[in-house]
Amino acid sequence: SAAPTATPEQGTGVFSKTRARIAERTLRTDRWWVPPLVTVLGLAAFVIYATVRSFARTAYWVPDYHYLTPFYSPCLSASCVPGSSHFGEPFGELPMWIPLGFVVLPFLLGFRLTCYYYRKAYYRSVWFSPPACAVAEPHAKYTGETRLPLIIQNSHRYFFYVALVVSLINTYDAVIAFHGKDGGFGFGLGNIVLLGNVILLWAYTLSCHSCRHIAGGRLKNFSAHPVRYWFWTQVSKLNTRHMALAWTTLGTLVLTDFYVMLVASNTISDLRFIN
Ligand code: FES
Repeated sequence: SAAPTATPEQGTGVFSKTRARIAERTLRTDRWWVPPLVTVLGLAAFVIYATVRSFARTAYWVPDYHYLTPFYSPCLSASCVPGSSHFGEPFGELPMWIPLGFVVLPFLLGFRLTCYYYRKAYYRSVWFSPPACAVAEPHAKYTGETRLPLIIQNSHRYFFYVALVVSLINTYDAVIAFHGKDGGFGFGLGNIVLLGNVILLWAYTLSCHSCRHIAGGRLKNFSAHPVRYWFWTQVSKLNTRHMALAWTTLGTLVLTDFYVMLVASNTISDLRFIN
């Protein structure tokens, strides 16, 4: 593999005086580049899909069954199709270059970008800092998350609070989607898709490292805080699956949006069990 791009004289990072002098970028002989490659392909696929769909402004709402895709929720402008604005339309018509989900999309992006798991993923696969264990990074300097821009990562807990609100909104969307064609209660395959997505979104959000700290951090003894201890125990169990949930929810978000798109565009009809 390629030698380090910086010269050893710089004396920083892997070239600092206390480090062994190794000319090779890595002595690893396994295919260490496979995980970062798969990661970057997975992230790119999601970003491309989500961007295209967020700007598309088509097939995001099924009037018959009240299915709304999470990429357009909440829909808060006069540009939203009738029936899709569950929380009113405080904003007027939006120009085409503003996604209808513009109020929460930046926060959801911020939540995922600052997520402790996604940091690991893109620091390795995009930033190469470092690309894998025992593989030298190409950057000559390392300041970590101590200054701009990466110090912004410390805002993760605040994005978490917003994500809680968004999860509540998505839950509301999933509940009102039990709507039949002739009014009243209805139940179809779309409900299972929406509900499964929202349950997994909750699992991802609650398994967040910041959530675990909010639940049980800074306590001197757990015995004096039985409720927080219980909550912390549950969150800790979920937390061990945070990476899996991070990927699963990217998948279910795409699946949910794709299903709503197919039904809303009359490409397929929803499989109905009741009404
Ligand atoms: Fe991943 Fe908070 S650490 S969402």
